[in-house]
Amino acid sequence: MGFKIAIFISGRGSNMREIVRACFKKKLKSSVELIVSNSNEAPGLYIPEIKDIDTLILDKNNIDDKSFYSLLNRSLKKKGIELICLAGFMKILKKQFIKKWKNKIINIHPSLLPAFKGLRPQHNAIQSKVKYSGCTVHYVNEKIDSGIIIDQDIIKVEDDDDEISLSKKILNKEHKLYIKVIRKLEDSYGKN
Ligand code: GRF
Repeated sequence: MGFKIAIFISGRGSNMREIVRACFKKKLKSSVELIVSNSNEAPGLYIPEIKDIDTLILDKNNIDDKSFYSLLNRSLKKKGIELICLAGFMKILKKQFIKKWKNKIINIHPSLLPAFKGLRPQHNAIQSKVKYSGCTVHYVNEKIDSGIIIDQDIIKVEDDDDEISLSKKILNKEHKLYIKVIRKLEDSYGKN
């Protein structure tokens, strides 16, 4: 079964683009019905692939939390959203919202969780001299980067890797992993 997906972004939007492309090319059964950005300066908003998708911009500098959630809830309901994919979304969602959407919000993080939660995980991986890193897709719960892990992919950290090169290698893996996980959720939906 496919989902009506909303993707939440704050920045570059490359994971968003990959999900949109996969839906468009029918590599997924789902459809992206809504893009939500909490920044009107997110470069991802200018990605051509999303030109025909409804976009909701709730700019962090111009909106209070109450209006944020009321406009967000209204749009999610109107669009009949069934799955929320966080893709570089830099706002911590409130508990009540997460509870309402339990097991329906997933996030991608550029480390092998539970290692290197939070900001700059690639930098922290380099600093810690780990030999392997990667990316994780997990359900979102009320603690940052701590929800149940759905899937992960690994990469070898080379001696000459720095934060930039490692981020690039992980991002390539992220693009594939996010699609793989959504497909897995599509396949398992209704079977449990
Ligand atoms: C990705 O590395 C993702 O794992 C993290 O934020 C970054 C977003 O990149 N949560 P993009 O906006 O999808 O290009």
